[in-house]
Amino acid sequence: MSSLLLKGGNVVSLDGIRQADVLCSDGTVSAIGTGLAAEGAPVEDVSGCYVLPGIIDPHVHFGWPDAADNFRAGSIAAACGGVTTVLEYAIQFPGEALAERVDTWKSMGEQTSAVDFGLHAIVSRADKETLDDVRAMPARGVTSFKMFLTSQHSGGLGIDDGALYAILRAVGDVGGIGMAHCENGALVESLGAELIEKGVVGPEGHPLSRPGFVEAEAVQRAVFLAQAAGALFYVPHLSSVEALDVVREARGKRWPVIAETCPQYLALTEDVYRGEHAERFVMSPPIKDKKSQLALWEGLSEGSLATIGSDHCPYHDERKTRYSQEDFRRIANGMPGVETSLMLLYELGVHQGRFSMVDLVRLMCWNPARIFGIDDRKGSIAVGKDADLVVFDAGRPLQLGPSQLHSSLEYSTFESMVVSGSPTLSVLRGQVVARDGEYVGEAVRGQYLHRHLPDPSDFLRI
Ligand code: URP
Ligand code: ZN
Repeated sequence: MSSLLLKGGNVVSLDGIRQADVLCSDGTVSAIGTGLAAEGAPVEDVSGCYVLPGIIDPHVHFGWPDAADNFRAGSIAAACGGVTTVLEYAIQFPGEALAERVDTWKSMGEQTSAVDFGLHAIVSRADKETLDDVRAMPARGVTSFKMFLTSQHSGGLGIDDGALYAILRAVGDVGGIGMAHCENGALVESLGAELIEKGVVGPEGHPLSRPGFVEAEAVQRAVFLAQAAGALFYVPHLSSVEALDVVREARGKRWPVIAETCPQYLALTEDVYRGEHAERFVMSPPIKDKKSQLALWEGLSEGSLATIGSDHCPYHDERKTRYSQEDFRRIANGMPGVETSLMLLYELGVHQGRFSMVDLVRLMCWNPARIFGIDDRKGSIAVGKDADLVVFDAGRPLQLGPSQLHSSLEYSTFESMVVSGSPTLSVLRGQVVARDGEYVGEAVRGQYLHRHLPDPSDFLRI
């Protein structure tokens, strides 16, 4: 029997924070209390530190074909940043069968992932075979389905409204969760072409071609079609006040709609597109203005924004700069983020007084666990649940530079920033996988998580 004892930490649960020991036995939490002892078990003195449930990042792209981090690199970065579970997107490219792609992604993760993982499916067609696959997915542990409403930068993944509605109906039939990359593709294309014609070719054109209303219109349409189709709906990577207002309105009508935002939208403003290395911040939707940033913080407090996803999808400088002075529409889209999410949310949320550590745990652990059907094992520290734990030292500063982080990138998008706290220990099912910012989990393999369908009422309760 393998055991591990964390002594004297400040254990964070949804009810509050209390000083306690946490005993892990054979992969699960076996006791929480004071004065715990376990014969022969390794003991970690974590007094003075927070003990959090392992962070769940509900939005990563470790298998995106041309991105810099593969499943191995991305998941090691996750482990070092206190993220012990990720939800990865399995992609159906044109001509491919959805079920086969999910199998491919599952075995990719099982062979190489350093953390536990579940899968969302990206659905790019609405033919009979694909719709049958969608309906069959919950039995294979996949309950959420993302569609691209943009065609640009999406490798032919974009679909029209007819296909979107057909897929959402199939999702609704089985009680799954519809999702969409919400930006109006036609507007992105026409605004982009106008800018290029005017000579705006550099990264500064990227946010100008995708203003907030372009996102809001697509959220409005997708939410409306999801409601008509009887599907729950989750908006990933929501970036603008305009789109947030659409989610607020839908929730006001008691429609089961919920949204995620990303650390970069909370930490940065569109000024980055006029600064040095602007191309490194090209991702979609783009980072918006201060008004949107402030609104997103409000959205987190009020519950319309329920989760934090990093949208980790980094590209090397060579890919970022290849077209950056020629045509912003061709710059590789995506940013790193899985390793810095917890540190940024602690810094900007808890340290700067916007919310409490308990709120952080709700947003980064409990809500994603409930929404995505892994709350039987993950998302809170409780006897019988997986012993996924992060020890976070609020007094251990870290500069977020590339040499401190584990992505295979040569840069970091937050490299000038020093955060005041960082994780010192990441524990996956009772085994230490990262210590003091170094990966030590070579002997541990991430497991595929068979997710259960959500409770629809959670979409409104959260
Ligand atoms: O620009 C981004 N976000 N790239 C990753 C793919 C996506 O749209 O989530
Ligand atoms: Zn994404």
